[in-house]
Amino acid sequence: MIDKVINIAKEAGEVIREGFRKNFLIEYKTNSSNLVTEIDKKSEQLIIDFIRKEFPTHSIIAEESGTQNYSSEYIWVIDPLDGTTNFAHGLPIFSVSIGVQKNNETIYGVVYDIMRNVLYTAEKGNGSYCDNRKLHVNDNDDLEKSVLVTGFPYNIKENPDHAIERFVAFLKCSRAVRRLGSAAIDMCYVAEGVFDGFWEVFLNPWDVCAAKLIVEEAGGIVTDFNGNKATIFSKQFLASNPYIHKNMLNVLQLSYNN
Ligand code: IPD
Ligand code: CA
Ligand code: CA
Repeated sequence: MIDKVINIAKEAGEVIREGFRKNFLIEYKTNSSNLVTEIDKKSEQLIIDFIRKEFPTHSIIAEESGTQNYSSEYIWVIDPLDGTTNFAHGLPIFSVSIGVQKNNETIYGVVYDIMRNVLYTAEKGNGSYCDNRKLHVNDNDDLEKSVLVTGFPYNIKENPDHAIERFVAFLKCSRAVRRLGSAAIDMCYVAEGVFDGFWEVFLNPWDVCAAKLIVEEAGGIVTDFNGNKATIFSKQFLASNPYIHKNMLNVLQLSYNN
């Protein structure tokens, strides 16, 4: 089954690559920062048509068209284009993210980094891979030498959950903080050991389902900001190597009290 997940993620990626820097319709969702393009919708329709044909009884949680509930133990959790702002502005950092859950546990995670043509995959209990290379988080335990990555929700101007203070706090205690614009790619880079850690608030299940498994199968830890194990429905997300996790939790907990 994972081969089918990979194939459809790549097919959707192909549609997105063909649409890149062409003319496409853009609509606003909740505000003028929150965009959806006709290519997001095209990618999602392709993936959903595939599932309906191949696995007609499976349930779906998809960003643009919502939830389709069937009495199945399987749920597909789909972000048809993670990094829409980048895509709409011609910046080549975006992905397709597909997670598959069985009995509420993610068993497959696939993130296709489209413009680098790199595929991140994980199967529960079998490790995670970048193409054919096995992934491991890095072993850095020194926050001052860490390079971190984060993202901001579309209502960042309202500073939800002290997102701005937390960003400032990490800027001050790390080597650098990046903001790439695709949460799924951010987390795959943690799994690969490129970044030491990632945090963000108010992500959605489709942003994290696949990449969470990819981080965990690479030896990383994913929790909320109290250190409780995260689920795909968590509203706070910290994904890092195990050595720096506690230090990052301290910063997340203290950053807005000072
Ligand atoms: C967004 C990206 C971004 C993150 C936002 C997400 P979208 O997803 O993952 O990096 O900061 O919180 O909503 O809207 O491009 O699919
Ligand atoms: Ca997303
Ligand atoms: Ca999206």
